[in-house]
Amino acid sequence: MARKRVAILISGRGSNMAALIAAAKDKSYPAEIVLVVSNIADAGGLEIARANGIATETVEHKRFGKDRDAFDRAIHAILEKNNIEIVCLAGFMRLLTPLFVAQWQGRLLNIHPALLPSFKGLDTHARAVETGVKIHGATVHFVVPEVDSGPIVAQAALAVRDDDTPDSLAARVIKLEHRIYPLALKLVAEGRVRIVGGRCVVDTPFGGDTPLIVPQG
Ligand code: GRF
Repeated sequence: MARKRVAILISGRGSNMAALIAAAKDKSYPAEIVLVVSNIADAGGLEIARANGIATETVEHKRFGKDRDAFDRAIHAILEKNNIEIVCLAGFMRLLTPLFVAQWQGRLLNIHPALLPSFKGLDTHARAVETGVKIHGATVHFVVPEVDSGPIVAQAALAVRDDDTPDSLAARVIKLEHRIYPLALKLVAEGRVRIVGGRCVVDTPFGGDTPLIVPQG
């Protein structure tokens, strides 16, 4: 089967983008990263993409002022022109309009640094520490108009330590992100994820019954 043509949308350093690029270097991976689009001209991730021989485009949201529709239309046009089949948001810090989300429904993924539906929005690690949750993690989900919602494709969890700070937690969660985003994209690109009644049904072996219980007692 032909590899799916994927674009990644970024705003910053692009470490998740880099993880997806690394996974897709393997010719047996079912997706190829053909384009990286940034809304910030000097986003660090753009350099990494270019160094990996991947085409980049910058669409500065500032140019569009408050006109979100025009910004999204510009992004959509670039994606269409490049025959993109799946879009991965990876630290893309713009809200997308319902029209754009509808145009890419079932083909638009995002990664969020928390176990959704907990801690939607920003500063997830600070809020996890503040709240005292014992288990925290990351989620890859399909994008729907409501922010940080949408059918969950994959999650990864870790134990929160009593002495964790937002930074120490972020450093461990990002490593999980770099594992589950390539996994989730693989499953979606292989057509093994179906959305049924707002949930993802994934045709793949279950991860196992080993519980993550914190504290250990
Ligand atoms: C990640 O924590 C991701 O979950 C969130 O934004 C951050 C982006 O980091 N959506 P990077 O640019 O992928 O390094």
